[in-house]
Amino acid sequence: MLPGVAQCNGVSIDTLNKCSKMSAAADENGNSKVCPKVCRITKALRKPQASLDLLPPMPEGLEPLKHQLAGHKFGHIDNSDLYGILDCKDGSILKPVMSQKKGQREKFFYELVNGDYNENAYFRKELYTLDIIRQLSKFTPTFLGMISLSEHPDVVYIKMEDESHGLLKPHILDVKIGAKPWEPEASHEKQQRQKLRCPHLDEIGFQILGARYYDCETRESITKLNLRTFTPHDLLYSGLFDIFRGLPCEARIVILEQILSQLNSISEWFSTQSYISFHGSSLLIVFEGEPNYLKKNVTTSTAITQLHRLVKVKMIDFVHVWEASKIDSNYLEGLRSLETYFSKLLDIFKAENRGKS
Ligand SMILES: Nc1ncnc2c1ncn2[C@@H]1O[C@H](COP(=O)(O)OP(=O)(O)O)[C@@H](O)[C@H]1O
Ligand SMILES: [Mg+2]
Repeated sequence: MLPGVAQCNGVSIDTLNKCSKMSAAADENGNSKVCPKVCRITKALRKPQASLDLLPPMPEGLEPLKHQLAGHKFGHIDNSDLYGILDCKDGSILKPVMSQKKGQREKFFYELVNGDYNENAYFRKELYTLDIIRQLSKFTPTFLGMISLSEHPDVVYIKMEDESHGLLKPHILDVKIGAKPWEPEASHEKQQRQKLRCPHLDEIGFQILGARYYDCETRESITKLNLRTFTPHDLLYSGLFDIFRGLPCEARIVILEQILSQLNSISEWFSTQSYISFHGSSLLIVFEGEPNYLKKNVTTSTAITQLHRLVKVKMIDFVHVWEASKIDSNYLEGLRSLETYFSKLLDIFKAENRGKS
């Protein structure tokens, strides 16, 4: 069996995909050409959540990442992938290398940032020694190496820090940066598909793939996945605003200022480098959203410093990072637009505070 090809009950996913196409065809008597066993497995795999006995076994001590917002999810087979991000429950997660080509690029990117050179077709050796590239380690999750699991022989995993670990009520945003999120070699059809999914992308310059936050009124954590279709106005006054609704006024300001400061450091990095470009890559924005904790922790400067540490803006998803020869203006413009949205939100909250005092 080819490396990187998932297997299920001894049948490769590739085979199942072919079988499912075949099952649509029927012989001249109208009977399906596919054996009933394969039909049964194919049908189960086409459900949003594959039934448990068809999934690869879950190694002891690991579980699918509960807070995962976007991307490939364990047991969700809409991309014909069975693997997803796993939670090691010790502050680290495992991201599968999904296919030879795409996944390999991300693996070599993490090694590039961490100066761990292995010969590859994606990044020149000289890049591994550049200080500007190594600076990316500040903006990316801590890389903890490559891991294999005997239960999942068809994939390897990138082990990295879980940015939401330790938060009481994690508020999380996955923001894909850039008005042109597709990779350089993407077909015209793929570009059109991506444009349709996010109709205001040209204007906005980024898309929120998912948001998770604690709703103070209902006292439940909410996951929103529909923000991509929002107009610029609704994105600010409804989408982004809702994520901060109900949080103590002072805390909202401290958190937003900290997000903006970290976004600014990243855009400074982008405005000085022209070695690599990021396509379809995201920023993961994470902060504490437990209202009582926040109320207690905005009273002294020591507490505020502590709160700053619970705000993280990290670059993730490097399946399409390419060598370049000019400034990555697609990413930089998207990033600056995101900064503008958060600045406007900050102004709204500051004005609300002034109105109250
Ligand atoms: N280091 C991390 N810490 C916490 N959550 C993460 C981390 N990396 C990814 N995630 C979660 O997993 C999701 C998908 O990650 P991503 O790297 O974009 O995978 P994919 O390549 O499948 O899109 C993100 O939306 C986020 O919820
Ligand atoms: Mg992603």
